[in-house]
Amino acid sequence: MPNSYIAGLGHYLPERMVTNKDLEKIMDTTDEWIVERTGINSRHWADMSVDSTSNMGTRAALKALKNANLEASDVDFIIFCTLSPDYSFPGGGVMVQEQLGIDTIGALDIRNQCSGFVYGLSVADQFIKSGMYKTILVIGSEIHSTGLDKTTRGRNVSVIFGDGAGAAVIRATDKPGHGVLSTHLHSQGKYAEELVVLEPGSSSLNRTEYLPEKIYPIMNGSNVFKHAVTRFPEVIMEALNKNGYSPSDINLLIPHQANLRISQFIQKTMHLRDDQVFNNIMKYGNTTAASVPIALSEAWQEGKVKEGDLICLAAFGSGFTWASALIRW
Ligand code: UT7
Repeated sequence: MPNSYIAGLGHYLPERMVTNKDLEKIMDTTDEWIVERTGINSRHWADMSVDSTSNMGTRAALKALKNANLEASDVDFIIFCTLSPDYSFPGGGVMVQEQLGIDTIGALDIRNQCSGFVYGLSVADQFIKSGMYKTILVIGSEIHSTGLDKTTRGRNVSVIFGDGAGAAVIRATDKPGHGVLSTHLHSQGKYAEELVVLEPGSSSLNRTEYLPEKIYPIMNGSNVFKHAVTRFPEVIMEALNKNGYSPSDINLLIPHQANLRISQFIQKTMHLRDDQVFNNIMKYGNTTAASVPIALSEAWQEGKVKEGDLICLAAFGSGFTWASALIRW
């Protein structure tokens, strides 16, 4: 049975950088509050005259393909992870297929918010292990900036989120012990409304007007935080235990970039050194499904992901859904 491994990574950030000081001009917030509670200094916002969720994903995918020394025509299947697709339907996967000019391969959309990319990687891993496909693009891409309440009313959510895209080329390998060792997926729908956009949805499509408090994300921040700091270490330990490893064996943990304080909490609870945990939320904010592939791609670019390393990906977010993947690079 073949294993899957990550053959190439790429990421794309829209050009426009928005600092905390910029946000101070449009809502009642401060740089100090944002840095102290989240660790975020800036984020990127898309320019809708040139960016879309799908074309940012395509740009990241083209870089990942280049880094894997592959052409778009080598791809057998596309998995596109986002909570902010270009349209209500169809999803962004088919747009990427068209933008890459690939013949009629399958495209699947995954909408698991912050854990979307790890879920997508898990699906790709199973397709490769079963022998159905040999080369799969897994993309996480988000444009949050057009769907945030940028007034003081929405400040507890809008200062956190940013736009961006990351992509990975997943391929089959026969090398024993190399690549994705295991993936672990969880959900708990009783908390669905703790971080949610209520409308539009099928329960409200007969409405002609939408209330602002329902079309923007709402979050019970402290409860999400409380669950995140429990679920992250739990799902990381699940992956380590499954493969007979302990936290000290991890070369690099790439946690979903939800809040720097959450990453620091995980690091402390799991007794990890600074060089074992990668964070870039300071520059990009929380980019939900794009955050893990952007961070992994950037860590790889910086030489922090090397052949033979044990890499752990972990995510938690809206749903609640959470997931981990352990990879021997
Ligand atoms: O991506 C996956 C899921 N998301 C997360 O993992 C996020 C988890 N949650 C969090 O990161 C934190 O809960 C937040 C950073 C979102 C908020 O931090 P908090 O310490 O939980 O703040 P809070 O919502 O309890 O608000 C504390 C105070 C409130 O004022 P009062 O009632 O104490 O007077 C808020 O109105 O801070 C106020 N506040 C702000 N002040 C300035 C909330 N947002 C802001 C803001 N600027 N942007």
